[in-house]
Amino acid sequence: MNSPDRIEELLNATRDSFSSGALVQLKLGGYHGPEPELKAVLVKKIATKGGEKYSFTWRYKTRDTIKNYAEDEAMELLRDGLAVEFRSAQLATTGFDMLFERNGEKQRLKRTEVKGRAAPSTEHNRAKNRPLSETGKPWLKALGLAGKNGAIRHDAQDKFRQINKMVEIFAPLVAALKAEPPLIVDMGAGKGYLDFALYDYLATVVKRPVRIVGVELREQLVEDGNATAKASGFAGLSFEAGAIMAFDASGADAVIALHACDTATDDAIFKGIAAGAALIAVAPCCHKQIRRQMEAGKPDETLEPLLRHGIFVERQAEMVTDTLRALLLELNGYRTRVFEFVSDAHTPKNNLIVAEKDGRFGRDREAVLRQIAEIKAMFGIDQHHLEGLLVG
Ligand SMILES: C[S@@+](CC[C@H](N)C(=O)[O-])C[C@H]1O[C@@H](n2cnc3c(N)ncnc32)[C@H](O)[C@@H]1O
Repeated sequence: MNSPDRIEELLNATRDSFSSGALVQLKLGGYHGPEPELKAVLVKKIATKGGEKYSFTWRYKTRDTIKNYAEDEAMELLRDGLAVEFRSAQLATTGFDMLFERNGEKQRLKRTEVKGRAAPSTEHNRAKNRPLSETGKPWLKALGLAGKNGAIRHDAQDKFRQINKMVEIFAPLVAALKAEPPLIVDMGAGKGYLDFALYDYLATVVKRPVRIVGVELREQLVEDGNATAKASGFAGLSFEAGAIMAFDASGADAVIALHACDTATDDAIFKGIAAGAALIAVAPCCHKQIRRQMEAGKPDETLEPLLRHGIFVERQAEMVTDTLRALLLELNGYRTRVFEFVSDAHTPKNNLIVAEKDGRFGRDREAVLRQIAEIKAMFGIDQHHLEGLLVG
């Protein structure tokens, strides 16, 4: 018989197994919501500094997004998800499995007893979930993340977590690159945190050969980076001194830039487009160029309340700059997504623009050009730096 309480039954069993330590995993499948690349959601128990949480992994075609929730919030998400967007769920516990299926209004829940299944340790999960679990590497010491004894320093825990998160995001994007080995160029590499972490993970854990070149203005950082790469035995990782615009990126399969200052992000995107890179991924930093133009130009009068306060001008400049970047990428044949890549507790500059070249992709060119022109006119923008580079 059709029963609307099957979802609640499943949630009760999930909650009980969570509190008794018997939860192995809850997996939501049969997704038919608005996100085309979402495949499944996995829910596990995790121990965090703030107590035990429900850890949700949204499994997309080429990447995972992980977020932890307190019980009330987790139950709300599951309840809504199971009622509308997910057609099935499998609960695995140490003592039984439950299979939930929904077909329109009709719901079914089947319970099967199991024997001898152990509960995963939430601590163990935490370490295992991290791409880089081994901490005694020379590069971690050279970059000041690990101390002499090889353990991650107390004051570098956040940075280490952040780097692991970046590897989690970038590894599937790199996995989708067809070239063997792919060439990844990191523009404005700084000390090369991401480059060392990604190279280490791909070379030693995934065992996929890769070439990574970090481009950086500051010569000392380049010298240090090359010395550390050599000491680590990372033959495919190197750093080059110079400006992004002076670097020959031809042959690059991926161009990335994390927090490259202001228009350096545009330079990096331009180099990626010019090279025909399959992947361009940038986490923009300050957005001064557009902010200056918004302040000097004549934005639409109706925007006045939105641009009255300095802090909002800053945020609007960020949104407008990155929206125009996304549209310009789209215009050049890139399927573009924008999402938060680390918690805003680590940095407020936490948007990642990910653009993947897709020959079949392309909205009406005229419509995209019209949108760009309208946004510029609305915010009183004369020219976007990236647009200037592309027009030549
Ligand atoms: C905020 S740091 C970020 C470093 C690194 N990507 C990270 O996330 O840790 C920005 C770096 O970009 C470099 N940079 C800025 N403009 C550049 C340009 N036009 N060409 C090359 N490097 C540049 C700076 O010297 C600086 O090291």
